[in-house]
Amino acid sequence: MQTVQDAAALRAAVRGWRNQGQTVGLVPTMGNLHAGHYSLIKLARARADRVVASVFVNPTQFGPNEDFERYPRTLAQDQAGLAEADCDVLFAPEVATMYPFGPANSVSLHVPQLTETLEGAHRPGHFDGVATVVCKLFNLVQPDLAVFGQKDFQQLKVIERMVRDLSLPVKVMAGATLRADDGLALSSRNQYLSRDERELSTQIHATLLQMRELIDKGHAWRVVEQAAASKLQRAGFEPDYAAIRRAEDLAEPADGETSGLVALIAARLGTTRLIDNLLFD
Ligand code: PAF
Repeated sequence: MQTVQDAAALRAAVRGWRNQGQTVGLVPTMGNLHAGHYSLIKLARARADRVVASVFVNPTQFGPNEDFERYPRTLAQDQAGLAEADCDVLFAPEVATMYPFGPANSVSLHVPQLTETLEGAHRPGHFDGVATVVCKLFNLVQPDLAVFGQKDFQQLKVIERMVRDLSLPVKVMAGATLRADDGLALSSRNQYLSRDERELSTQIHATLLQMRELIDKGHAWRVVEQAAASKLQRAGFEPDYAAIRRAEDLAEPADGETSGLVALIAARLGTTRLIDNLLFD
């Protein structure tokens, strides 16, 4: 596996493959890779001739009081894991490569509607940063396909919308969420949890399952949302939301609508903010 930091070396590698008629898959990440990321690499590997993984902790998607500084950076470990996962190129750019005029002076993309709710409402500007960096990565790599984890469900929807709206020639693919045996969705942020918090954290997936059960039993979605938020609060979380939405566009469901839904939770445990979701169909 080749590791490249600059755009010219990346483009040269991709050009070589293109000249041989090979297809390219991209897996954008912020590093500190775990089994969830490697499952995305595996999916890209199965669908494209060549795989590029990017590792870049993107400053523009973190708010001023978020965990940009403490976000785990483990490049040597990621490099070894990616080589083992049969990745062809690791693109690990410096901030100046992705933001030649500085993060604060960058062109910024805004995907309307979808970003106004849930994560977008609680993390202002977050999806502008995500859309901007993903679009930049698409321009640099020019992949045929790109794989994103379903755990960040709203992010996936935002990227799908951006790709469609900007007519970007990239197929966006979703990789299923990987979970620990007790249900906690794998995430780089799980390592912030204390032992007690880690035990409690299983309540997020348990609550999502319960939300699905209650909807299946015919309970109104607003009542289910309230019950889920109260349950989390009682367990010691500070929930930002426990929501039932249409999976397609994250709009509120109509009364009695039960198919094509997704339950989404974001909640804080101490200083750690966890998100997860569950598709109903
Ligand atoms: O999901 C992530 O890790 C990031 O949001 C992404 C897509 C790599 C953009 O920085």
